Amino acid sequence: MDVVLDNSVADALPLGAKAAVDQRDVRTWRLDDDGRQTMVLAAMGGRLPQVVYWGAPLPADEDLSTLQSAHELDVTGGMLDENPDLSLCPEAIRTFPGQPGLILRDGDGTPLLPKFCYNGEERSEEGLTLTYNDDANGLTLAFIFATDPSTRIITAKTRLDATRPVHLHWLAAPVFPAPQQSDEMIDFAGRWTGEFQTNRTPWSAGMRYRENRTGRTGHEHFPGLLVPLRGCTNTQGEAYGFHYGWSGGHKMIAEELPDGRRQIQFGHAARMETKPATTFQSATLYVTYSHTGLNGCAVSFQRHLRDRIVTWPDKDRLRPVHYNCWEAVYFDHKLPVLQDIANRAADLGAERFVLDDGWFGQRDDDTRSLSDWTVDPRKYPDGLTPLIDHVHSLGMTFGIWFEPEMINPDSDIHRAHPDWALGGEDQTLGRQQKALNMSLPEVRDFIYDRMAAILSVHQIDYIKWDHNRVLPMPDADQTRGSYALIDRLRADFPHVEIESCASGGGRIDFGIMQRTQRVWLSDSNDALERLRIQHDAALFLPIAVTGSHVGPRRCHTSGRIFDISFRAWVAAQRHMGFEMDPRELDEREAAVLREVTAWWKHNRTWMLDADILRLDSADKAVLAEQQMTRDGDKFVVFAGKAATSDQIAPRPLRLTALDETARYRITLMNRKTAPALSRGMPALKDGPIEVSGAWLMHHGLILPWNFPDTMWVLEGERL
Ligand code: GLA
Repeated sequence: MDVVLDNSVADALPLGAKAAVDQRDVRTWRLDDDGRQTMVLAAMGGRLPQVVYWGAPLPADEDLSTLQSAHELDVTGGMLDENPDLSLCPEAIRTFPGQPGLILRDGDGTPLLPKFCYNGEERSEEGLTLTYNDDANGLTLAFIFATDPSTRIITAKTRLDATRPVHLHWLAAPVFPAPQQSDEMIDFAGRWTGEFQTNRTPWSAGMRYRENRTGRTGHEHFPGLLVPLRGCTNTQGEAYGFHYGWSGGHKMIAEELPDGRRQIQFGHAARMETKPATTFQSATLYVTYSHTGLNGCAVSFQRHLRDRIVTWPDKDRLRPVHYNCWEAVYFDHKLPVLQDIANRAADLGAERFVLDDGWFGQRDDDTRSLSDWTVDPRKYPDGLTPLIDHVHSLGMTFGIWFEPEMINPDSDIHRAHPDWALGGEDQTLGRQQKALNMSLPEVRDFIYDRMAAILSVHQIDYIKWDHNRVLPMPDADQTRGSYALIDRLRADFPHVEIESCASGGGRIDFGIMQRTQRVWLSDSNDALERLRIQHDAALFLPIAVTGSHVGPRRCHTSGRIFDISFRAWVAAQRHMGFEMDPRELDEREAAVLREVTAWWKHNRTWMLDADILRLDSADKAVLAEQQMTRDGDKFVVFAGKAATSDQIAPRPLRLTALDETARYRITLMNRKTAPALSRGMPALKDGPIEVSGAWLMHHGLILPWNFPDTMWVLEGERL
């Protein structure tokens, strides 16, 4: 990466000579990621820097001091004589007309109004750290940036040090301006079985304030924001992307100031630092600029998560097909039944068997036993070994469910240590449970010992790590405690992969993904719902980490029935698995599932490394995506028909990001499944076609007519 300091001024300024800085002096820095984006920071004298440019790459010889002055807004009646800086941490004391980036109080509760001055900087291959002091208040603020030329993600975080303990109310990660050529912003809502719902909100005067006070990332509050410029779609136009990598609940401010400027702030939810301290740090804010539509942001987040955030126990190991027994047996564990299910799952193509909730304590339903992490002797008189051995004999590995941070009042541990629970005695329970206080070392040690006891005597390569309730209140120590426990277990059991689950997708963010390798995206195995959820989640999540299972014939969370083919193809779009009782499958269903699973296994080597490009479908009934290798040689298009179309014939489906001049062979690989009502013969129904990238991108593929709740699957190959 390139971090260029404008030497003309800064080299002349010895560190610590802040007081001597003339107000007209300008310091500038630029961050370049080798071709897609440039970010320019500039500051007058010793003041905090502002992002004065962020977007398409600027020429190497651009004069950054000129950008600083050219970026200044005019002043007219009714305004201050100068527009206060929209800096990396807007300061209230400088009459900033919006939300400040830092709110804190002294140890005795007196509000502090810091004013920072340049102290120093460090430049390295990876990034740039800028340090500012407020000597009067004994504070130091550091902004830490790094760029990644491969993923095009810029990471940014803020750190605050104080000479004595202070109370933190709010600390924003470095604050960025938002573009004024944008009409709306996209952030995320959701619910149980309905994760990753995109919210489009028009920009207007004032602020959009999202704050998650649930203490976990939450279904409702995925901490991401996309800001498309006017005319941006999935495949074209400019967009900015933001993601805050923290699992304890975030706060986001997207504010239009009275002068028209816009700012984006992300940080931990306010007041979740419950104790005075001398050091505070924001989580990492991941940002990127794209000139290739929302897909440019999506691919950057996907690659960064897969290639930089997740640490894989064995990078070369292919992701195994999962079988999870939850929706087959729930709490009713019987060894012969589970063995029979394992036989059938292996026969269908599963490679990892995950034993879900119900194996420990007296866990016959969800009212009891959480935290009693010892094998239930009534269900497993000889322990877990007979089941694990059986699973291994079928060539599958074994995974197991825990919900480590939780405790039922009806449990031996709660009876022995009621004080280990977080929150008041009379708190409202969630799923009949409380959270454990993860900031207590004795609690972490206890859970560690119980989990380690299971992991060290069995060959287990996977944990489904659940978190099924919100916290009684947000608390950063709780999140740090959870992270510490996972980190310790990972250090001691490095071969064990972890799936982050929280009633489905309630804990998905880059903070938890630094410690885990998969997400249980949703408790909805309804293929139609899942199609939509995973499509929108692809704005951030790559294939390799996104679990997707073939559920029961009649979906347990929606009551709907979908054909096995649709269910199987939807699961095959991500990290595939099964979660139904395989004893319910008839011969046709088993054959279809076997076939799709074999297709997935055949293609996973490249697909798990592929980018997900969301297509701009001309038909709102069709949700389509193109999964493509980095070099664009190979791709698969999934066109999911989520409803009946308004028009009678399918509209052309335009592909994206291809080489206009190259030729591609396109095969509709499941063309044989076209229903009798598809009476014509579009070329793809007859066999492969060979066409140019230009035609595929500017005209688009004509697919056969199909029923709703079906998926066309097209394979593409550059010739
Ligand atoms: C949560 C998960 C489910 C399952 C149950 C077990 O709801 O999301 O997948 O593991 O817990 O109790």
